[in-house]
Amino acid sequence: MKLARRLQAIKPSPTLALNSRAKALAAQGVDVVVLAAGEPDFDTPDYVKQAAVDAIKAGFTKYTATPGIPELREAICRKLERDNGLRFTPEQVLVTAGGKQAIYNFCQAVLDEGDEVLIFSPYWVSYPDMVRLAGATPVIVATREEDGFAPDPDAIRRALTPRTRAIIINSPGNPTGAVYSRAALEGIAAAVRDHDCLIISDDIYEKLVYTGERLGLSDVAPDLVPRIVVVNGMSKAYSMTGWRMGYAAGPRPVIAAMQLVQDQSTSNASSIGQKAALAALQGPPDTIAAMAAEYHARRDFFVGGLNALDGVRCRMPEGAFYALADVRGLYGRPYKGKAITDSMQLSEILLDDFRVAAVPGDPFGAEGYIRMSFATSRAVLAKGLTRLGEMVQALR
Ligand SMILES: Cc1ncc(COP(=O)(O)O)c(C=O)c1O
Repeated sequence: MKLARRLQAIKPSPTLALNSRAKALAAQGVDVVVLAAGEPDFDTPDYVKQAAVDAIKAGFTKYTATPGIPELREAICRKLERDNGLRFTPEQVLVTAGGKQAIYNFCQAVLDEGDEVLIFSPYWVSYPDMVRLAGATPVIVATREEDGFAPDPDAIRRALTPRTRAIIINSPGNPTGAVYSRAALEGIAAAVRDHDCLIISDDIYEKLVYTGERLGLSDVAPDLVPRIVVVNGMSKAYSMTGWRMGYAAGPRPVIAAMQLVQDQSTSNASSIGQKAALAALQGPPDTIAAMAAEYHARRDFFVGGLNALDGVRCRMPEGAFYALADVRGLYGRPYKGKAITDSMQLSEILLDDFRVAAVPGDPFGAEGYIRMSFATSRAVLAKGLTRLGEMVQALR
């Protein structure tokens, strides 16, 4: 069967694939420790669920305007002003089915064939493919762990070309958990200031910060605000991954173009979900703080445990809920008569023989690493550490 040419460059999401494999094993009764998912284990807060139930009971079950109901767009504006010091009007806000759709719409609305988008590696796996789906070219700028995974401004300057239409920044980042320092953000701002490109600020993990202060690019470079498209959503902060609620805010012409893409593809995000998102944004801030405090404790426990394993080294992430462990210390060691050579092979051994689902670093542009989520209970994390220890033993 003939399929579209543009799909040939697209890979299925390895995190979703690994998750489905782990879930299939679990469904067969296999006891798998799943550290592969990019989602919180907490339930959605009750007050959010209640708002959705109320919406259904009140018959709020019809199409809404594509960009979202006015009260939600207004609440998003208030949130952006309160938390990020950003002033947008509701016309500059588009409610989407998850942050993912916001970035997808952006790519479809802004990019042409031949255009380039700068992405810092290690990156969230979907960025390059969403750029490719729009016919454009992802340009990867590598960052180093020694620099806290912040990009070198000179490397950004070297990568910028007249075809660069956008750059994507993501702090706290997936999969690194890195939170950019003020100096790092100033370096990015200085590098792109004189280049006519848009900046996506993917703030989806902004509420999950454990070390230091989280700043946005707009905090250090207010002059760049007219070029920034903020992407955020309810998935991570409010444990609402399945609801698919996100949003974008930015320059009116860009948001209008993104809305056009959405008009002719999915229309509005779920009416019920919008009421739930509104409740989430209006709810007590301590709900998020309590979840963040628990992630903090899990981070310390899990990353500490990883660093106690011979051949494994893990930088303490300042935010998000991922441990990106450097496993190159295990490379070259024999397992079942074969030397370990890459992260994919290691992840397969981990799942097949030790029943731990961890994502290989390679698809994130982070070969030499594996990514594990600590958004799961401490009991599961402890079991994961025990099994990882058994694998390390078996590699001796
Ligand atoms: C960096 C990053 N951005 C955006 C998203 C999108 O999340 P959602 O579409 O659930 O809002 C994710 C989800 O894993 C992510 O890791």
